[in-house]
Amino acid sequence: MKTMMTQPTPESIRQAAQIIRDGGVVGFPTETVYGLGGDALSGEAAKRIFEAKGRPGDNPLIVHIASLSEIDPLIEGEMPEMARKLAEAYWPGPLTMIMKKSSLIPDEVSAGLKTVGIRLPANETARALIREAGRPIAAPSANRSGRPSPTTAKHVLDDMDGRIPMILDGGASEVGLESTVLDVTGEIPRVLRPGGVTPEMIAAVAGKVEVDGTVMRPLREGERPISPGTKYRHYAPEGDLTIVQGEEKAVAESICGMYDGFEKDAAILALPGHEHLYGVRRVYTLGTDGSVESAAAGLFAALRLLDDEKMAHIFSEAVPADGLGLAVMNRLGRAAAFHIVNV
Ligand code: TXA
Ligand code: MG
Repeated sequence: MKTMMTQPTPESIRQAAQIIRDGGVVGFPTETVYGLGGDALSGEAAKRIFEAKGRPGDNPLIVHIASLSEIDPLIEGEMPEMARKLAEAYWPGPLTMIMKKSSLIPDEVSAGLKTVGIRLPANETARALIREAGRPIAAPSANRSGRPSPTTAKHVLDDMDGRIPMILDGGASEVGLESTVLDVTGEIPRVLRPGGVTPEMIAAVAGKVEVDGTVMRPLREGERPISPGTKYRHYAPEGDLTIVQGEEKAVAESICGMYDGFEKDAAILALPGHEHLYGVRRVYTLGTDGSVESAAAGLFAALRLLDDEKMAHIFSEAVPADGLGLAVMNRLGRAAAFHIVNV
């Protein structure tokens, strides 16, 4: 199969929507990361998505809609009051809410669960594609299983060339990390995966929020995951990654010490502005301006680059784990198998 990469125009969006209506799969931009989209009401389409991704079939897909009015047929009963308030506040945007699913959602999409994650993305191309397809779109991140999520169309092509017919190139994803996954089936909303809509933002609307314990630690032996995605070893770089946390100068000193123990293939992941702390050592920057937003937007591209350049020993500065920093540290922590050194 030849993979066509093209700018989103009314014509190319119509073409992509036709592929989806015919049961196929396309790469498309969202504000979080690129998605691998197929008909969310078709079990066959879901199977094609799993196949293109190389993903185990027991990890559910999230379902994307283009307007709030499309949600009712997809869920069982009424949307919980708290979910409605959160939708008013943060949709369209990087928030996926887990609710009880209706029988319209095939078991292949929900991976046999009785719930479904639903998201209304902010990206205009994504919404135009859903409208044009005339149905909700199931989409995981468009990486091959085990790779960092793609934040550019080029990343999607690197992973999916020859596996899907078409990629819509909408430029770099603004948020750069996957959406917040929030379970709203209980009394208190529970963050299963942190993202652009932070726990602080959720608490501001819902009054309360819980963050699942697995967000900042690996699953324990025999522990049953609430979100199936957490049981898989997610992206892990080829090299070993160590995160160092503490006061700026102490962090730099510790990283330099560890780095100098290796003769080659060592690299440092640091916030911009910190390069001078590392002298002539090999530094990759996390984002462009030192803000946590920019670190989030640049993280996956930096991890892909470190893999491409075959760095074997990577030492990363930590970012404060509040607000969006929690999502950055969750992804970085998982990439490091939660090997975090406090200094
Ligand atoms: O930002 C995003 O969410 C991107 C873009 C394309 O929208 N999509 C994405 O999908 O990241 P994916 O499949 O890579 O991650 C979805 C996560 C998985 O960890 C999955 O286990 C979890 O959400 N999830 C999906 N449905 C669930 C459910 N019913 N209950 C619990 N967790 C669920
Ligand atoms: Mg993913």
